[in-house]
Amino acid sequence: MAKIVGGLTTSHIPAVGNAIARELFDDPYWKPFFDAYPKAREWLGENKPDVAIVVYNDHGLNFFLNAQPTFAIGAAPEYRNEDEGWGIPTIDPFPGHPELSWHIINSVVAEEFDLVTCQEMSVDHGFVVPLQLFWPEGRPVKTVPVCINTVQHPVPSPSRCYKLGQAIGRAVRSFPEDLNVVVLGTGGLSHQLDGERAGFINKEFDLMCMEKIVSEPEELAKYSIHDLVRLAGAQGTELIMWLCMRGALGDNVTKVHENYHIPISNTGAGMMVLEA
Ligand code: DHB
Ligand code: FE
Repeated sequence: MAKIVGGLTTSHIPAVGNAIARELFDDPYWKPFFDAYPKAREWLGENKPDVAIVVYNDHGLNFFLNAQPTFAIGAAPEYRNEDEGWGIPTIDPFPGHPELSWHIINSVVAEEFDLVTCQEMSVDHGFVVPLQLFWPEGRPVKTVPVCINTVQHPVPSPSRCYKLGQAIGRAVRSFPEDLNVVVLGTGGLSHQLDGERAGFINKEFDLMCMEKIVSEPEELAKYSIHDLVRLAGAQGTELIMWLCMRGALGDNVTKVHENYHIPISNTGAGMMVLEA
């Protein structure tokens, strides 16, 4: 049977994609951010996941305001990155795992989570930057993208996203093949990119989230989306990706590694490795 070995969270700031392309790993601005990732890669080397389920939010590349699904999942043999206008070089496609995707789809739809299923899907910086950070050497894992709307309100509640994650966890654990699966939650932590509060970061709230996501995720799931906008900024709602990831891991989780650094671009950049 398939097994969830753990979860990874990271911010997915597009400027990171640029810094990777320019190899700014030792630049004083970037070093405290990039230095956190080798420990995560070490853990991945020990746990050898075959598949990464990547819970992320599309920012207007694959879905736009004309058609915005609340929850969508990829079921494609590969996922292409495209130019989003950030100046990041586009990179090679990522392999999918359509059999696992369809198993998850069948299982969660049976549990009344009606996801949009995508047999073609372009993946933006929310998906690509984290994969580049955790697997800089290439494409050792197959991927299943799970996309949650944070672009157009109404955005799904933290509690709904946590429950979707729990359903995804049950789906994975009932997949008959012996696969090691890691679940990524990308985005966050606090940031607001536009409007009067542009540049807003809430360190205290971010650190509290990084503590509670380990053993008290239900406490975070109690917030409303409007609470998150107020406490973490309009784009800080990306915490719902972390909660979906956390739901998939099950009850007992150990924190293996974490890093928090502000600012990277406009964001409180958080990274965690959680073992299931
Ligand atoms: C930034 C952060 C994001 O999560 C994003 O999607 C785009 C930009 C930023 O801080 O620049
Ligand atoms: Fe984002």
